[in-house]
Amino acid sequence: MERRIYLDNSATTYTDKEVLQKMLPYFSEVYGNGSSQHFFGREALVAIDEAREKVAKAIGAKPTEIYFTSGGTESDNWAIKGAAHALREKGNHIITTAIEHPAVIKTCQALEKDGFEVTYLPVDSEGFVTAEQVEKAITDKTILISVMTANNEIGTIEPIREIGAVAKAHKILFHTDAVQAVGNVPIDVVKDNIDMLSMSAHKFYGPKGVGVLYKRNGVKIGRFMDGGEQERNMRASTLNTPGIVGLGAAIEIAVRDMEKNYKHVAELRDYFVKELLANVKDIKYNGPVDTSRRLPSNANFSFEYIEGESILMSLDLEGIAVSSGSACSSGSLEPSYVLLSVGVPIELAHGSIRFSFGKNNTMEEVKYTLEKLYAIVARLREMSPLFKEFKGEQKYV
Ligand SMILES: Cc1ncc(COP(=O)(O)O)c(C=O)c1O
Repeated sequence: MERRIYLDNSATTYTDKEVLQKMLPYFSEVYGNGSSQHFFGREALVAIDEAREKVAKAIGAKPTEIYFTSGGTESDNWAIKGAAHALREKGNHIITTAIEHPAVIKTCQALEKDGFEVTYLPVDSEGFVTAEQVEKAITDKTILISVMTANNEIGTIEPIREIGAVAKAHKILFHTDAVQAVGNVPIDVVKDNIDMLSMSAHKFYGPKGVGVLYKRNGVKIGRFMDGGEQERNMRASTLNTPGIVGLGAAIEIAVRDMEKNYKHVAELRDYFVKELLANVKDIKYNGPVDTSRRLPSNANFSFEYIEGESILMSLDLEGIAVSSGSACSSGSLEPSYVLLSVGVPIELAHGSIRFSFGKNNTMEEVKYTLEKLYAIVARLREMSPLFKEFKGEQKYV
């Protein structure tokens, strides 16, 4: 393979070298168990608490509101199941959206089997849900509202501050899955009226397998795993010191460099989108058009007459990594439920690709990718009987 270009930064990012350097001593030098009372343990605990402070500072929280987990999925499960079970006496109704990550959707579906009722709010053609929609769905049984900060497939940034305000006014808990947003766009849990927030280090140039649940002090939810008394007796299991140190370093760097990275990544994405729309017919740009309401890294396109998987594999052979749908559902032949929810027709949803740009990508890589993509789309369409039938019709602008 001549070269390798990674345009799948929403699936995961590389661990920043600066982050890795900070993590390394915590594998075999400072290896004590953070719960041990001797100095080996205390050294680890100091590093863990430093990371906790960095996370808190990054999102406007207090260190006592930060709980380390194994990633975004655990944080989502804990927040939603924890709140549901803690508030069962008060009510059994949860409000969420139709385009949440499976870590939220499947958690809600599991709760439905246990007698909870879930409203999956529909979204508009760009993936937005409104605070009014949320307010209308509230009943006297509603105990939790969970709306993602930003969507992983189409980049939609939801109006979480307004939704949080509605939740607050009705004294209902508000959780947000901010896994795609943290480190990329500013978040302030106080201003944004957030009671619980999930994040995951590997989405912002930190290591995999470590995340955070922010839980506002005073919010009462149950433990998620039974076992030891770690994390103020709320989350059992020996703390992942290297991972936590990495998460802390990564979030500090992400906040420090946010403006610079945002500008760079958005510039690459905007160029890519403009050129692709100008040069390839019969494609549909999915997700918000207003770039201020979209993750700077995200571009999602549907290509008429051809399969997303064929494009993905052809790009792969050229050394270019992208995703069809989300990483979690790739490999399945089901079209993306997120694209179907925003009204993309089923055949077109099958022909969709997510390109997600990262801080290390260059304009030269974007131009190279575009050239390869033009050739791939032309070749695949030449082989497509559907294309032969409809050739020449410009359906999308
Ligand atoms: C929006 C969203 N939520 C949750 C997750 C799951 O995070 P993790 O892989 O850390 O469990 C992801 C990962 O793709 C995501 O994009």
